[in-house]
Amino acid sequence: MYRLANSAPAVYQDGESARRPATELQLTQKSAVKPFLEVLSGRRQPVPPVWMMRQAGRYLPEYRELRARAGGFLDLCFTPEFAAEVTLQPIRRFGFDAAIIFSDILVVPYALGREVRFEAGEGPRLEPLDTPEQVDRLARQADFSKLEPVYEALRRVRRELDPKIALIGFCGAPWTVATYMVAGQGTPDQAPARMMAYRQPNAFADIIDVLVENSIQYLLGQLSAGADALQIFDTWAGVLPPREFQRWSTEPTRRIVEGVRKEKPDAKIIGFPRGAGALLPGYVEATGVDGVSIDWAAEPSLIRERVQNRVAVQGNLDPLVLIAGGAALNAAVDDVLANYAGGRLIFNLGHGIQPQTPIAHVEQMLKRVRAYKG
Ligand code: CP3
Repeated sequence: MYRLANSAPAVYQDGESARRPATELQLTQKSAVKPFLEVLSGRRQPVPPVWMMRQAGRYLPEYRELRARAGGFLDLCFTPEFAAEVTLQPIRRFGFDAAIIFSDILVVPYALGREVRFEAGEGPRLEPLDTPEQVDRLARQADFSKLEPVYEALRRVRRELDPKIALIGFCGAPWTVATYMVAGQGTPDQAPARMMAYRQPNAFADIIDVLVENSIQYLLGQLSAGADALQIFDTWAGVLPPREFQRWSTEPTRRIVEGVRKEKPDAKIIGFPRGAGALLPGYVEATGVDGVSIDWAAEPSLIRERVQNRVAVQGNLDPLVLIAGGAALNAAVDDVLANYAGGRLIFNLGHGIQPQTPIAHVEQMLKRVRAYKG
């Protein structure tokens, strides 16, 4: 029924995998080399593996169609059949080296009992959590049965995915999730959370602690359900001054990495402290991540000499140049390759793909990355 866009073998079909004995399927999957995981394990690949943040999303007509059928965004996330389907859509179309499970970082506050809504065209809305009294009443333990559909979607994708393609699970970093919980919505500079962290550091630290503990459990659940690797999205790390960056971004992420590895010592973890700039080397050293996703403003020599010498680097094409296309796109792809493909690189964008991106430009990018000879 479906064929991958590149020369990789067809994905397993439901019926086909169902007929295979479980052990045979497991062996096939375990023995296949996944270039994405190779890079995270320290082995540079001659052609860098590639995927895109937000690769399942509104730039794809097949996503928009299913999104309309599902009703709300959270319905899409929590219906395993739909979530698995949209996870696989970009894999079928482009043959990326990794699939990321379709969900959202705000499912954790949702499982903590917070009200979470996604208004059309407005982004997420939560009930604000901005006083110590409210923090006192925050649940300490998430209701993980609410996240069971995410695990079920992972199991479904795992069954259908070509064994050479990695499956990524994820969560938001505590700081970034807390910024939405405190303000109740996205803001340009996350002033409400920054203010609370200065004025009520103990209450704010309580929110962070709750998120650390529950994110560890959530990530472990995703690994058990079939995720090969994990990414921790700290989209708003870059608004923090160095001292606060250390306390609210690096340290909670370090605790999550430690907590996950306590149960699963071999877990492969990528951090994405967007906007960390010169604070990246310290973040990488302190957190113990296997890879770091870098935004498009990263400075190449700093990354090569103080980051890529320790861990794998993922990134960092400007999503806007992917909209622009043409010669500018070719030049930008070549820059990423020239800057980082000599070392361990997972080719990606510097942040999520934008809804208005033409599909032909994604194809142009992929063709150029895969033609890389290094
Ligand atoms: O990468 C993938 O394809 C997996 C799916 C994924 C989504 N959100 C789906 C989504 C992932 C990894 C996320 C992470 C996420 N969610 C982050 C961190 C990474 C980043 O992009 O900064 C953040 C901050 C959120 C919170 C969030 N969810 C916001 C601010 C928004 C609204 C902005 C927007 O793009 O509309 C969402 C909604 C959301 N999450 C959409 C998708 C595909 C769009 C919703 C829709 O289809 O209507």
